[in-house]
Amino acid sequence: RTVTSDLVPQSLQALNAALAGCRRCPLWRDATQPVCGVGPKAAPLMIVGEQPGDHEDLSGQPFMGPAGQVLDEALQAAGIDRGAVYLTNAVKHFKHEVKERRRLHRTPSVSEIELCRWWLDYERAFVKPELVVAMGASAARSVLGHAVNVSDTRGQLMKGPEGSVLVTYHPAYILRHPDPRERVRAKAEFMADLARAGAWSG
Ligand code: URA
Repeated sequence: RTVTSDLVPQSLQALNAALAGCRRCPLWRDATQPVCGVGPKAAPLMIVGEQPGDHEDLSGQPFMGPAGQVLDEALQAAGIDRGAVYLTNAVKHFKHEVKERRRLHRTPSVSEIELCRWWLDYERAFVKPELVVAMGASAARSVLGHAVNVSDTRGQLMKGPEGSVLVTYHPAYILRHPDPRERVRAKAEFMADLARAGAWSG
């Protein structure tokens, strides 16, 4: 059986075009479309989120909704031009459940993250960023290949065989944490982590 997404992609553009045919896991069934990465093909900085949300699923572009606004604020404060960053997600289809006509985010499973890593690994191989920022536990798992505790590992520059990685909070954690003090604290750390990423990746 030949699956389009299993053919070896020859370029970042070909990779991202092939995403439309991805059937590696069942998440494509309930999603409007996959959301591929965006940004320059030789970006020094790659930022990886978890998965598209409601806005991203509808628009086809990463980080368009509330989480994207938090990210934009931190990028701006760090003096990083969003257009110079390669922005992508660990999982390319929106996993959700419908409740009272609202589409609510569901956390991707380990197997969904692992199946989708096929795409992220190629994105990293093509873009070859100097630094990958993994936002949240799903992105960290995909980028590092194993589970980490985000609070314990964030802000440290980790040098591995596939390049340097910095783990930080996911913007949705900053938006949704029930304790307002924790939201403020995590946001300050998130801003500091992105400032460090900007300084490090030039
Ligand atoms: N959250 C993510 O992790 N990625 C997006 O693209 C949007 C929201």
